[in-house]
Amino acid sequence: MTPTKTPWLGRRSLIAGVSATATMVLLPTGSSLAQGKLTATPRQGEGPFYPVEWSGDIDADLVVVRGEAAQAIGQVTHVSGRILDLAGRPHSGAVVEIWQCDANGIYRHPRDGGAGRGRDLGFQGRGRVTSDASGRYSFRTIRPVAYSGRAPHIHFKVVLPERRALITQMYVFGETLNAQDVVLNNIRDRQQRDSVIVRLLPADGIEPGALAGAFDIVIG
Ligand SMILES: [Fe+2]
Repeated sequence: MTPTKTPWLGRRSLIAGVSATATMVLLPTGSSLAQGKLTATPRQGEGPFYPVEWSGDIDADLVVVRGEAAQAIGQVTHVSGRILDLAGRPHSGAVVEIWQCDANGIYRHPRDGGAGRGRDLGFQGRGRVTSDASGRYSFRTIRPVAYSGRAPHIHFKVVLPERRALITQMYVFGETLNAQDVVLNNIRDRQQRDSVIVRLLPADGIEPGALAGAFDIVIG
């Protein structure tokens, strides 16, 4: 039977509530208050695998691809947060895109996935949502995995309604590869570097076996 996204979408209000709680608990790793100002999320390179096609299934659930029998390989992970300005005010109507490699370390991109490397067709590879009135966004994806010298990470691109954009990457707290990741360690400011490292915690209340993390993105 081909899975449908309907059961998942039907539970979105529940998930939004749980995510809000997670954000409050996890805020110290997502953003920090310093003299009334939040820490600006640092810009990081786009990398070579920004998706070249955004047709078809590009919604917030990267674990299920319409028309594919199997769901994505990997540990389901809910990543949510808010798009904020430096004073903590929400940026609503921001277009938030993520992209990441599948559980085999392969991006959904024509320049990746060479001979003998099978991409996981059950993984959507990229997603796009718009932040709501409180600046909130949410994705259901897989826990990012390492590949060729990179620590596990998820790419983010945020475009504000006035067209200002921020490209950055999110990392996983506790990953030993973080210490060697060149892109992460090019962020010289300690507070800014810490602001892109997110704790992923068990979130059985959202979905059995899943993880959840809060990543607030602050655009000055
Ligand atoms: Fe990457």
